[in-house]
Amino acid sequence: MEVRALTEADAEAWLALRLRALREHPDAFVATPEETESLPDVKKRFATARDDESIVVGAFDPHLVGIVGCYRLEATKERHIARIWGMYIAPEARGRGIGRFMLDVVITLTREWPELDHLWLHVMRHQTAARRLYLSCGFEVIGSHPRVLRVGDCYYDEDQMVFRLR
Ligand SMILES: CC(C)(COP(=O)(O)OP(=O)(O)OC[C@H]1O[C@@H](n2cnc3c(N)ncnc32)[C@H](O)[C@@H]1OP(=O)(O)O)[C@@H](O)C(=O)NCCC(=O)NCCS
Repeated sequence: MEVRALTEADAEAWLALRLRALREHPDAFVATPEETESLPDVKKRFATARDDESIVVGAFDPHLVGIVGCYRLEATKERHIARIWGMYIAPEARGRGIGRFMLDVVITLTREWPELDHLWLHVMRHQTAARRLYLSCGFEVIGSHPRVLRVGDCYYDEDQMVFRLR
């Protein structure tokens, strides 16, 4: 098992796993597979991201089985916040501590980002595994957004959580 920051060379594997996540869990993620497939030049995004602005961490066993991203908000008055997104572990690799380990890696790496104050994420309330993972890693619920996601005729509520770095 290897957990590391992904690079341009991993872009295709990331995209394949991301699309799998979006297809398997339409009620866990905002993006649709179609929107993600039409993203312009994913490789370039990996190539041009600054290390203290945006990272995507991946777990390999031996191929890519887990992904999670984190990026710093752009607005001047929000640059002390980074948002975690796209956490997904392939079903065959779940329940072995990989999600927790990847989140620990993100926390460790972002602690080095200058002037970052806290990590922020959104999780659908019914995603019990993800919610418990975040709570057990030290995230706390700071608010909620009822009916934030609509998939077909179903609405889903979201919790917003933060992890304080300082
Ligand atoms: C949430 C997810 C990333 C967890 O990954 P994982 O590698 O299986 O998690 P871990 O094995 O590291 O488990 C860490 C903690 O998460 C929680 N957890 C994991 N799976 C769980 C489950 N099925 N039920 C309840 N809690 C669970 C537990 O607190 C666990 O700690 P413990 O083993 O000490 O009890 C994975 O289930 C997933 O990809 N789910 C679908 C996508 C998703 O919901 N993504 C989040 C979007 S915000």
